[in-house]
Amino acid sequence: MSTVQQPTAGLAGCHLVAFPRIEDRRGNLSFVENDVHVPFAIQRVYWLYDVPGGAERGGHAHRDLQQLVIAMSGSFDIVLDDGTIQQRFHLNRSYCGLYIPRMIWREIDNFSSGSVCMVLASKPYAEADYIRDRDEFRALTR
Ligand code: TYD
Repeated sequence: MSTVQQPTAGLAGCHLVAFPRIEDRRGNLSFVENDVHVPFAIQRVYWLYDVPGGAERGGHAHRDLQQLVIAMSGSFDIVLDDGTIQQRFHLNRSYCGLYIPRMIWREIDNFSSGSVCMVLASKPYAEADYIRDRDEFRALTR
């Protein structure tokens, strides 16, 4: 398993997902299937790459979107906040993802050089689904 830590009990619904691993002398293989390894039907996949040193991504929550974040290469940190509890996770294994349900504020930082952050998402992109104002998020989770 990866070195990432399990979310605390209070971080509503967030959990780590370990994908199957087919180990092989020629290189290892992992895979993901809708509704099997991910608790939603995947409707979108996007990824962050060429992230310059010191950059931060995220800084928002989603009203309905569910996501699963995977460090496909390298490593980075995700700070999650459910309105009550905050926790930092270090993702550094391509066979381990972090499931983030709706209404969780997330910030992503500490990207290693050459890292790739892949996100599986339950819905197509919709700006109206974003909460980008921290005070609004706090008010909605109060
Ligand atoms: P955003 O989700 O704010 O980036 P991050 O949370 O990773 O820092 O998206 C940045 C920009 O990219 C924003 O203008 C919307 C656009 N975008 C799309 O067009 N489609 C997508 O699937 C995503 C995730 C973003």
